[in-house]
Amino acid sequence: MLIFNKQTDLKAYLFPFLASKTTIGFVPTMGALHDGHLSLLRKALQENEIVVMSIFVNPTQFNNAEDLEKYPRTLERDVKKIATISNKIIVFAPSVDDIYEGNTVSESFDYDGLEHQMEGKHRPGHFDGVGTIVKRLFEIVQPTNSYFGEKDFQQLQIIKKLVQKYKIPVNVIGCPIHREKNGLAMSSRNERLSVTEKEEAALIFKTLTASKKMFGTKSANEVSNFVKKTFENYPKFSLEYFQIADEATLKPCLRRSKNKKYRAFIAVFVNNIRLIDTISLN
Ligand code: PAJ
Repeated sequence: MLIFNKQTDLKAYLFPFLASKTTIGFVPTMGALHDGHLSLLRKALQENEIVVMSIFVNPTQFNNAEDLEKYPRTLERDVKKIATISNKIIVFAPSVDDIYEGNTVSESFDYDGLEHQMEGKHRPGHFDGVGTIVKRLFEIVQPTNSYFGEKDFQQLQIIKKLVQKYKIPVNVIGCPIHREKNGLAMSSRNERLSVTEKEEAALIFKTLTASKKMFGTKSANEVSNFVKKTFENYPKFSLEYFQIADEATLKPCLRRSKNKKYRAFIAVFVNNIRLIDTISLN
């Protein structure tokens, strides 16, 4: 497996592939890899001649210093996991300095309002940080196809908007959410949960599934009230938001339209660890 720590080295390595129009699949991550990340990697391997995975804990997308500090960094273990899938993956694991060259600040982006909903509201500056790093990584790797999980559905929509607005020639491909057996969406942050908390956190997907069923006959408002009440009964959980939104605009569903696709989004703290999940309601 090839591991690059410097963007200049990776660019030099990729140059002949770009020149010969080899298809390049790209999976950007922040590491602490789990089966969700690996499912993206598998899809990229099926659909491209070569595959690059980046592992970089991007400081500019963290609005909370403690979250950044505590974010798991497990490069050696990650590389071993990647090797179980294929020994042909090209890993890019740069330092903060290599990417930001001493200027760790975000560009600011206008995503036509997608950034003002949910995660954007609760994590100020987060999507400027995501846009900054993903745009830079796209410039370095110049992928044909790039893979993002629906787990971060708002991020996926924002990246689609980013490439459209900046005319970046890359296909952005959304991939389904990988879950634990009990339904908990896989996440690098789950590593910070105790075994009991992981079991208890199954409540998040259970509630999303119940809300999907309820949305068949009840309004978005009624479903939201049900979710709020559910979490009030569990003091270990603190519900940050639950929103039923239009998949395209991410705006809350006030009056339902037959022509739109809807999705429920949730963010919950379990013992100070912030977890998000989402489910399609169509
Ligand atoms: P990270 O949280 O490491 O996730 C990397 C990619 O894996 C994202 O596209 C995310 O949606 C996807 N992913 C995470 N958990 C998943 C799951 N359970 N099932 C399927 N896909 C899953 O998202 C980021 O990193 C960063 O914001 C990044 C895009 C790398 C920019 O720094």
